[in-house]
Amino acid sequence: MWLFGYGSLVWRPAFPYANKQPARLDGWKRRFYQASPDHRGTPDAPGRVVTLLPEPSEQCWGMAYRVPEKGRGQILDDLDFREKAGYERHQLPLHLADEHGTLTGEVVEGLVYVANRDNPNFIGSCSMEEMAQHIYRSVGPSGANIEYLVELSKALASMGVHDPHVVDLMSALQPLLDN
Ligand code: SIN
Repeated sequence: MWLFGYGSLVWRPAFPYANKQPARLDGWKRRFYQASPDHRGTPDAPGRVVTLLPEPSEQCWGMAYRVPEKGRGQILDDLDFREKAGYERHQLPLHLADEHGTLTGEVVEGLVYVANRDNPNFIGSCSMEEMAQHIYRSVGPSGANIEYLVELSKALASMGVHDPHVVDLMSALQPLLDN
């Protein structure tokens, strides 16, 4: 069984996995359009984290993890709890790549947590500057929202992945960090 991470699950899986490989998900785009009342913010001041939106012409790179059979039930229960603020399980085809990001040709079905537009924490788009300010000021039980964006950006860069949405958001955050 495979699980695809495209947000915090890229850089902080925090569950035991058998192995991991970069992977590409076709027909979806990553966006910081989901409010986080439980990890990177609070119910009164939610943070802003990623979800996936369907977009036929787009692709989203992330990390695929092979979930071991032993302890799988508990791992999935823990992930359901972690992703409880609006995310639902989807089963989607993943194009696996090697450690250099070269597609291996292997396509597997993977579990993907997606927060659909109709979930109560979907907040959608605003300007990059507003999005960066929102992230800059938000903190929750899992830590600062800045950490979520910075670590995701670093993890994608280390995989050789260029996601214009994440890169643009980091550029909008930088002047706030420099102040
Ligand atoms: C994911 O990383 O795949 C889901 C969204 C998140 O937990 O940040």
